[in-house]
Amino acid sequence: ARMFGAEDLITAYSKTTGQDLPVQELPLPSEFAWGTATAAYQVEGGAFRDGKGDSIWDTYSHLEPSRTNGENADVTCNHYELMLEDVDLMSQFDVDVYRFSISWSRIIPLGGRNDPINEKGIAFYDSLINKLIERNIEPVVTLYHWDTPQRIYDRYGAFLNTTEFEADFKHYAHLCFTRFGDRVKKWITFNEPYITSIFAHLNGTLAPGHCREKGTDTKTEPWRVGHTIILSHASVVEMYASTFQPLQKGSISIVLNGHFYEPHDANSQQDIDAAQRRMEFYIGWFGDPVFLGQDYPAAMREYLGDRLPGFSAEERELLRRTCKINAFYGMNHYSTKYARQLTDPPAYDDWTSNVEESAINSEGVEIGPPSAAQWLRVAPEGFRKLLNWVWKRYRLPIIVTENGCPCIGEKDVEVAVNDQFRQRYVGLYLDSISRAINEDGVKVEGWYVWSFLDNYEWAAGYGPRYGIVHIDFDTLKRTPKNSAWYLKRSLKTRRGR
Ligand code: NOJ
Repeated sequence: ARMFGAEDLITAYSKTTGQDLPVQELPLPSEFAWGTATAAYQVEGGAFRDGKGDSIWDTYSHLEPSRTNGENADVTCNHYELMLEDVDLMSQFDVDVYRFSISWSRIIPLGGRNDPINEKGIAFYDSLINKLIERNIEPVVTLYHWDTPQRIYDRYGAFLNTTEFEADFKHYAHLCFTRFGDRVKKWITFNEPYITSIFAHLNGTLAPGHCREKGTDTKTEPWRVGHTIILSHASVVEMYASTFQPLQKGSISIVLNGHFYEPHDANSQQDIDAAQRRMEFYIGWFGDPVFLGQDYPAAMREYLGDRLPGFSAEERELLRRTCKINAFYGMNHYSTKYARQLTDPPAYDDWTSNVEESAINSEGVEIGPPSAAQWLRVAPEGFRKLLNWVWKRYRLPIIVTENGCPCIGEKDVEVAVNDQFRQRYVGLYLDSISRAINEDGVKVEGWYVWSFLDNYEWAAGYGPRYGIVHIDFDTLKRTPKNSAWYLKRSLKTRRGR
């Protein structure tokens, strides 16, 4: 692997893109929210503690070592036991917000609407929320971050059965609003439905890896999964608005991920269209029904035909009624890619919508230098363009609910602490937000770094480390990286406070 070590992101950036782009510490609004983010399975551990039921990730990470780098998250950061200290540590960075997810099977071990509730699981989230509030940190809570209760999957295939899943998810959400909604004022239903649909049900590189089982119809199932997520989101939004919001006065939305796509050949109309279409397949898939109350993007219908489910009249009504309730667009974003129209597409095109993705364009220019994850290249201009694309299409205030990168060699704490690559990456991306707000008129309300702690990166195990805090997974010792202090200082300066 090429080494982009400590200092040389800027050199690497100008080498790969021919441009020079130093961090400028551009200003952000004083009320702009700065936060950190995690997800239950990635940081909690305590996988089998205090009555927690198994999730599909507990199963998947023990199934076949090759699927998850031989690693599981039975213990991971042991945030389950170290949570109080973790919040104290986080508060030293002067964050406004902590985004975390609730493990569904920790509070309803079997997951279903007629199954018992686990009070010990509820108690954990109660004390986390109370501790955050005591530290003046706002809890932002994700209901679903990939860890479906195993029993729900066994009973009816989880997302593959829209009606059953919707009813169980609604019950789970109802419980969370009832127990935590007096203190939690920002809710996210689903994290990255694209990944759940495509990576977990088409490629099978994430749990449940369903498509590797016999009898799976990968031509339709990923889109069924997406359909279930959209409808479950909408009905939970409706329930929140009618039953909880009048008293609790919180807000709710969903988190969508997506790269920005540039045309591979900037002079080719085909490539320009391919880039646009790729983003509609990625973001519009969920964004158009959820935020606009519309059908799937026309291009998806055109390419997928009836592999894509349709919305019934009743479902269309539900989307129409709920789309405006979503209070923000939750954006997870990391990188940019080039999109090229395939002239000779495969027999049936799974998910790339006849688009080939690459990191190098027709003139041999690279997107930007790679981080420790090959797919994640430093591309702050693409980020600015995506903020504009989303703002133009949905006109909703954007909260960047995840952004960050892993650096090379970070297992070693000495290397990790000196994470200049990350400091430059986040510095450049924050500059892009500033430009989007101040020069382009986009509304961006906050930015949460992924991640607070080094953690379990799903199929990649403990390889890539995204934390602004290093974890020694043998001793569980926490050591803040310099980016944590950089961000504390930078957000203070940029916001003038
Ligand atoms: C997206 C996911 O939400 C999160 O769980 C993951 O660790 C990061 N991106 C980094 O890949």
